[in-house]
Amino acid sequence: MTTPAPKRIEVRDFRCGLLPFRPMRFAVLLCLVAAVSSCGDDDSTPLDASADARPFGCPSHPAPLANPGDDLGGDTWETFASGFFETWCTRCHSSTLVGAVARGGAPDGLNWDDEATVRENLDLIREVVGVTNEMPPRGDKPSCDDRERLARWIDGGAP
Ligand code: HEC
Repeated sequence: MTTPAPKRIEVRDFRCGLLPFRPMRFAVLLCLVAAVSSCGDDDSTPLDASADARPFGCPSHPAPLANPGDDLGGDTWETFASGFFETWCTRCHSSTLVGAVARGGAPDGLNWDDEATVRENLDLIREVVGVTNEMPPRGDKPSCDDRERLARWIDGGAP
């Protein structure tokens, strides 16, 4: 009487094992599809995100990097910003350059050799140097650190 018992157990085990098997295969398939499609998303989303995060190869700094009055390590218009503009911008954005060709297409009036004009356009300058990184549009460009430094100078109140 001890031999039929194991047979019943074997049948139960087999059926119980078989029933979840098809749903399992289906589940595995679903997982594979999900994995493949999420891989596609994972591949494209970070790429897009990193492209956005580093426009023209440098980090984008939409958030303030300093508060007005913060210690900027001694950076002022005199000691830092004027030199930054002279090095990277005034070959196009200069009051000494007249006409679209001489200015490399830089709009009339946007002259960064003029401190007052710079101060009137700090938000715009911060945007193109520290957020979109689109300036200068060609030729020699400032390092990522120098872009960040200019944005911090502006955020710190442009002393
Ligand atoms: C090779 C020439 C050239 C250099 C160098 C250059 N720019 Fe420009 N800039 C342009 C041109 C062309 C435009 C107009 C087209 C445009 O807005 O993209 C322009 C436009 C701008 C504008 C106006 C953008 C707007 O949305 O209205 C700002 C601000 C600016 N430049 C800042 C700078 C700063 C700051 C630098 C230096 C870090 C710089 N540019 C270097 C050619 C130059």
